[in-house]
Amino acid sequence: MTTMRKRILSGVQPSGKLHLGNYFGAVKQHIALQDENDCFYFIADYHTLTSIRDTAERVAAETGKKADPAALLREYTRDVALDHLALGLDPDKATFFRQSDVPEVTELAWILGTVTSMGLLERAVSYKDKVEKGIEASVGLFFYPVLMAADILIYRSHVVPVGQDQVQHIEMTRDMADRFNRTFGEVFPVPTHRLDLAPKVPGIDGQKMSKSYDNTIEIFAEGNPLKKRVMSIVTDSTPVEAPKDPEKDNVFALYSLFATAEEKAALAQRYRAGGMGYGEAKKLLLEKINAQFEPARQKRKQLAADPDYVEGVLRKGAARARAEAQKTMELVRRAVGMLPRPVA
Ligand code: TRP
Repeated sequence: MTTMRKRILSGVQPSGKLHLGNYFGAVKQHIALQDENDCFYFIADYHTLTSIRDTAERVAAETGKKADPAALLREYTRDVALDHLALGLDPDKATFFRQSDVPEVTELAWILGTVTSMGLLERAVSYKDKVEKGIEASVGLFFYPVLMAADILIYRSHVVPVGQDQVQHIEMTRDMADRFNRTFGEVFPVPTHRLDLAPKVPGIDGQKMSKSYDNTIEIFAEGNPLKKRVMSIVTDSTPVEAPKDPEKDNVFALYSLFATAEEKAALAQRYRAGGMGYGEAKKLLLEKINAQFEPARQKRKQLAADPDYVEGVLRKGAARARAEAQKTMELVRRAVGMLPRPVA
């Protein structure tokens, strides 16, 4: 029954090509939740506006060509939509939309901002990190957690699946919901987070896979570029004949993400026996990546050829989301005194 299903919500920033770290750390798990829950997933384009100018500068430096921030935002937004739909997000099960198609969320952010102390926002790790890195802070960057709280509260979400780096933002959301409820009356359910299980996903240099380390393996790369990436995974210099420790190897760690328990045990045994080089392990990994993502690649190509369909999916999701948001805003506006109360 719909009333027993939990409202699960999460946002993804459109920030470039999806890699194995994103997939195993978040996307796969979020998509799996769509069967048993009432999921709302959105592309957080308002949030990405806080960093798109820096991204454009970075892209310009990398390519030697001018990069237009608006064109990048458009491209990355489309990428998130294609990636998720290709990987199995089902728009008939989950409500999938673009954050900015529900502009009511910015109104709620404003109202929540009035019950949020500067001190709370000054403690946000994501903000402090960026300032420490020398990134010039805009008011938008500072206000980012308030918009995130509005995302969560406007859909009256119960559970927010996120990675460890976002947990503090959910705690702040709880604070804001609580403050609002105590000031104006109970409007918002106080949400909890669900920590994404974080398997170890090393990048090609052995550090955690992350765009900021430039060590990613992209899911929708294929052919030679993908092969080159996999072949350049850093391994130690143990010679082919010598036994190797699978637990210390990046190729083995990545292979484990795709393999069954038996396949994993079999490869571990070959490592320990000696006589197998890392090059061969890389080939096995490449086969696994190709087998796993081939259907999604085909699907992504089909979707990319049909932009009207994709846009239609997002619009339909937005209409559903917006109806929910408008219901909440009606309650909020009444609660804060902007609409006359109904005659009891
Ligand atoms: N800040 C999140 C991130 O960078 C994205 C996001 C925006 C989000 N709004 C949200 C996540 C609401 C969960 C709920 O990953």
